[in-house]
Amino acid sequence: MANVAVIGAQWGDEGKGKVVDWLASRADIVVRFQGGHNAGHTLVVGNTTYKLSLLPSGVVRGKLGIIGNGVVLDPDALFAEIERVRAQGLDVGPHNLRIAENTPLILPLHPALDRAREAARGEDKIGTTGRGIGPAYEDKVGRRSIRVCDLAEPATLSAKLDELLLHHNSLLRGLGAPEFGKQPLLDALLALAPRLLPYASAVGEVLDAARAEGKRVLFEGAQAVMLDVDHGTYPYVTSSNTVAGNAAAGAGVGPAQIGTVLGIAKAYATRVGSGPFPSELFDDVGRMLGEKGREFGTVTGRPRRCGWFDAAMVRQAVKIGGVDGLVLTKLDVLDGLPELKICVGYKVDGETMRRLPAGMRAQAAAEPIFETMPGWPGSTFGARSYGELPAEAVKYVRRIEELVEAPVMMLSTSPDRDDTIALRDPFAG
Ligand code: GDP
Ligand code: IMO
Ligand code: MG
Repeated sequence: MANVAVIGAQWGDEGKGKVVDWLASRADIVVRFQGGHNAGHTLVVGNTTYKLSLLPSGVVRGKLGIIGNGVVLDPDALFAEIERVRAQGLDVGPHNLRIAENTPLILPLHPALDRAREAARGEDKIGTTGRGIGPAYEDKVGRRSIRVCDLAEPATLSAKLDELLLHHNSLLRGLGAPEFGKQPLLDALLALAPRLLPYASAVGEVLDAARAEGKRVLFEGAQAVMLDVDHGTYPYVTSSNTVAGNAAAGAGVGPAQIGTVLGIAKAYATRVGSGPFPSELFDDVGRMLGEKGREFGTVTGRPRRCGWFDAAMVRQAVKIGGVDGLVLTKLDVLDGLPELKICVGYKVDGETMRRLPAGMRAQAAAEPIFETMPGWPGSTFGARSYGELPAEAVKYVRRIEELVEAPVMMLSTSPDRDDTIALRDPFAG
């Protein structure tokens, strides 16, 4: 099986965009299968930086991009992003971007509810991106969503809007937030139809034809296993399944089509938003990682919390996410540190645990158990072969492989596309 799925193995922003862009040179199709414009994937090609939220990262290499039904799609955000990348010289249109016709839409009432809820939670806020992701997924499972295909049926659209507004306006009223009127929303959706419908497609069939022709498909995950709605640090998670298993349901293919699963992990750890983070650092090392690693959210600009690599957590992500191999990114950010720590487990109420417990209180109480390793002299920045890495850096990578129980298949040593070391070819299976 020559397909590959790329998922985050920590709390997001591991460098999935860079890895997908690198792999896309050998793929025919790149598919987003979950999340929405809460994602921010950065690709650096020479002097040009692309920041993608909804567009599959293969657009930069001119590959066919697919937005699967598992995504929640904000059409305004999509068209703004298309304009942005066109201004950077990329060619994006219905000829090379297909959107599943059964994809649920994010409407202006979704971010409004997202923000009103966060404000009401006060200190206990999730720290969402405020993009309406959670409310849009709630409507999907609540069977109220307006989907791309509904734009072709004005009567359906009108009836669905009534149902949606009944639900949303009661909630907004309860939260003391302004309500939405029907007509402006309906007008906006009717105006959107001729722009969005040319992209609409029966994506499952496109992917089935690709399979029959022996084409290579790259599934691009957003967020990460520890933000998965079932397996992450609930409720401090996003509202979709981020594990590789969801690539099938979120694209409309069978599970056997997923192929090799790559888990992307930074050589340390970051998190943006609230929630437990046992190996978090509050000292100068944490600040150094944030500055040198430029750890500011691509979507919201918020500073990311930084900490040591948590091997217990990544091991858990490997097991749950179905990860066949890791891609370790940002090794260069650790250059020059005299010693490195790796979290290998937790102490919870006096008990030693190898995995993060499920309960909220227990997760918050988890104290990291660290092992210490020497750092390395010199620089790994921009290294393009394993032989260029200092011996201590190789030992660090090897120790991570042992602890997370998965091989490291690739390494990344700078934001640039070409500063990548491939130890194995993921497309080779
Ligand atoms: P994603 O959400 O997983 O695609 O990751 P983001 O793009 O949000 O965040 C990763 C950041 O790290 C981006 O700014 C990348 O350009 C940058 N990056 C990726 N790989 C490396 C690397 O190996 N070294 C350094 N220094 N930066 C990297
Ligand atoms: P990429 O694909 C990092 C986090 C938010 C918040 C939680 C819920 O770039 O790795 P949401 O808006 O999804 O309801 O927010 O999830 N979050 C991310 N953190 N990277 C992301 O995407 C994220 N997408 C959502 O910060 O804690
Ligand atoms: Mg990101």
